[in-house]
Amino acid sequence: MEKQIQFLRQTSQKEINAASVLQEIESLRIKYLGRRGTINKLMEKLPALPREERIISGKEINELKKEIEKALASRGKEVIEKKHEKQQQETLDVTVPGIRPQIGHIHPVTQATTEILEAFTELGYEIIEGPDVENDHYNFEVLNIPKTHPARDLQDTFWLTNGLLPRTHTSAMQVRVMEQRKPPFKIAVPGWVYRQEREDATHASSFHQVEGFAVGEHISFAHLKGTLFTLLRKVLGDETKLKFRASYFPYVEPCAEVSATCPHCKGRGCDICKQSGWIEILGSGMIHPVVLKNAGIDPKKYSGFAFAFGSTRLAMLKYKINDIRLFTGGDLRFLEQF
Ligand code: DAH
Repeated sequence: MEKQIQFLRQTSQKEINAASVLQEIESLRIKYLGRRGTINKLMEKLPALPREERIISGKEINELKKEIEKALASRGKEVIEKKHEKQQQETLDVTVPGIRPQIGHIHPVTQATTEILEAFTELGYEIIEGPDVENDHYNFEVLNIPKTHPARDLQDTFWLTNGLLPRTHTSAMQVRVMEQRKPPFKIAVPGWVYRQEREDATHASSFHQVEGFAVGEHISFAHLKGTLFTLLRKVLGDETKLKFRASYFPYVEPCAEVSATCPHCKGRGCDICKQSGWIEILGSGMIHPVVLKNAGIDPKKYSGFAFAFGSTRLAMLKYKINDIRLFTGGDLRFLEQF
């Protein structure tokens, strides 16, 4: 009997400790403590034992019974706690911060262009977009840039195999629009332009321009100046001064290259304007009579002015960006700042 009790003590402990679900614990309870369980079976054997042994064994069986009860209870508690722990891990924790979806936003060049176009709209300009792929006729020929003209060298062109070209400037839209309209009109053309450039911090092979032009009776250089002052002061600040320097583009006469006082140092000189106080902003002039004629407009009756600036360049100036390639590089660390 002594040995049986000893054996039962060991195996019951082992089995109870190995139980991992409540059902197993319940079956063990029935197995050991049930009416026909092991403990009762041992009890039933007691009366057959000699008195001395009966008393000792009886006591031991009772102790073992208590041990098994205790072990089952504590193992049961453990199993329940484990189950709760697992459930807690599985449940939805509403306090965990969500994963923020990445939301895009307006590209800095588009932001700057939108601001410029708003200024154009306030001046009564109509905004028109044109094709990115142009033909030789509108990009060069009608703008007084014949095939033999050295001005074509200024614009290293990506020629397509079908003879067309990604436009080298938004000026290509001038005659397209003039052909379709009767003066007076005021037009702004935003758009990307493409040139074979050796790319560096200030040169990109695609950049964004906005072309502006107006045609009507008695349009003079004074109107051009007034327009540029109004537009650029809106975009660069009220105190902006402009400097007009004689220049050359075959589709305007006279032609002026315009610089504005640096909006960061207000003309005093800083890193952005390379200490000069001035930033070269745009090309402009009075539309050449030949161009008006090419568009079917009588240059004796009508005159006009035209100008274009790089919106990419203006965005660089506005946001103090020192490398033009960042705009098209697709680096989110850069773009997310705007
Ligand atoms: N098309 C010229 C360029 O892309 C800029 C330009 C100069 C436009 C003079 C004009 C102008 O309308 O009058 O460099």
